[in-house]
Amino acid sequence: MCYASAMTVQLTIPRPDDWHLHLRDGAMLKAVLPETARDFARAIIMPNLVPPVVTGDQAAAYRDRILAALPDDMTFEPLMTLYLTEDTDPADVAAAHASGLIKAVKLYPAGATTNSASGVSDFDKVRGVLETMADIGLPLCTHGEVTDSDIDIFDREAVFIDRVLDPIRKATPGLRVVMEHITTRNAADYVTSQDSDLGATITTHHLIINRNHLLVGGIKPHYYCLPVAKREEHRLALRAAATSGDKRFFLGTDSAPHTDPNKLSACGCAGCFTAPNTMPLLAHVFEEDSALDKLAGFASENGPAFYRLPVNSARLTLEKQDSPVIFPDQISTEEGLVTVFDPGFDVFWKVA
Ligand code: NCD
Ligand code: ZN
Repeated sequence: MCYASAMTVQLTIPRPDDWHLHLRDGAMLKAVLPETARDFARAIIMPNLVPPVVTGDQAAAYRDRILAALPDDMTFEPLMTLYLTEDTDPADVAAAHASGLIKAVKLYPAGATTNSASGVSDFDKVRGVLETMADIGLPLCTHGEVTDSDIDIFDREAVFIDRVLDPIRKATPGLRVVMEHITTRNAADYVTSQDSDLGATITTHHLIINRNHLLVGGIKPHYYCLPVAKREEHRLALRAAATSGDKRFFLGTDSAPHTDPNKLSACGCAGCFTAPNTMPLLAHVFEEDSALDKLAGFASENGPAFYRLPVNSARLTLEKQDSPVIFPDQISTEEGLVTVFDPGFDVFWKVA
């Protein structure tokens, strides 16, 4: 509900969830978890630790470490995932799903992104797992980029759809798939062209930056993430999808913290850290597109509908101020400073 008062505009929505989040482990986990738990009730937790979370036992242990790192005055439910490898055991996946522990399995093509060396090269080797997942209704989250060296990095998502995703879906009827962090019009169009069983997450930063923001006037390492930001026409397609109200599109921040030395390096890590300011940024974006009434769907309702979970009963209120909100530039962790995503424009929204 949106109402204007003399001083402020407020927007109250069901408490949002983040359907794609990197929490890391150890000291980094302890530092970044409150940044998500402050605003979000639940998140799909990415399994690309070193070593990756590949078995049900490992996912249970990681879940315990997350809950142990949660400050006493916060509530948060981590929704665990398994990292799909060519050795993943269908029975282990089925058991971890049946116990309620895992909510998805994550497919990384080998070498596609940070900590993806254990990902899949030979898709025939994971056919049995995918068929089990189709049978039990467990979603497959995909990092949708091919890794072939002859495919240009800006084309890797579009080529993945044709060469990998569409064949997998045709070969595995009933498999429920989330195209994660989509960055192209091609991906948004593919989602809307399909009948069912397909959803897509969109990040906060891909609604805000295109590849010019990353590269023009000097390289901006804090805008480098994977999949890499594309041309403006693709950003606009993502904005249209996110603000459309189409239930197949929902928020997955892909908030991916790396310390500044690891970002500001000759070979810098991919990832934007958007957990601290995502909800204010989304309010800004949705307001700019005259779609504040669609924010609850995107951030709070469409994700639970896809994952067949209830919408949160708690609420979150966003408030628009007259003067710009100051977000921290960085958060400090025992591993070093982590820079918070800077949208490059003034934001007047904050979480009340
Ligand atoms: C992610 C990370 O750092 O773990 N980086 C990123 O740029 N998004 C990995 C990923 O989701 O691709
Ligand atoms: Zn990610």
